[in-house]
Amino acid sequence: MPSTKLSPQERESLLDAARKALKRAYAPYSKFHVGAAVLTEQSEVFTGCNVENASYGLTNCAERSAIFAAVQGTKGAKLVVRAVAVVNGDELPCSPCGACRQVISEFGENAIVIFKGQQGYQEMPIADLLPESFRLS
Ligand code: THU
Repeated sequence: MPSTKLSPQERESLLDAARKALKRAYAPYSKFHVGAAVLTEQSEVFTGCNVENASYGLTNCAERSAIFAAVQGTKGAKLVVRAVAVVNGDELPCSPCGACRQVISEFGENAIVIFKGQQGYQEMPIADLLPESFRLS
């Protein structure tokens, strides 16, 4: 199934939810605050922020925090992600890291990702951001 485009309202409300989540970021080391919001096929929105650690490698990105919240919060059927929006406090270009692309892909092979590119916010299917994602089946 191809990606389903978001309406302008869906896109703006997902970005707003990500901006709210950004305020909860715990980033005392990088000082780079990130928020993400996930829109599910059931039209629910789950959010997350980055959570850093003194042991830097334990840091969790905002996108994965949001997906993990969605896994826990989605009742019934398996989570299917329709879209993910990511924002940062510095309004810098910032697309999801490789690890987050793989996690988004696990739960939404047709997901649309909204992120700040060089020319402002843009939408891109996860399959374009991560071709040939890893799958066990
Ligand atoms: N970070 C995210 O949360 N999402 C991204 O897409 C890129 C990076 C976080 C991880 C770390 O806390 C900080 O940004 C700097 O790398």
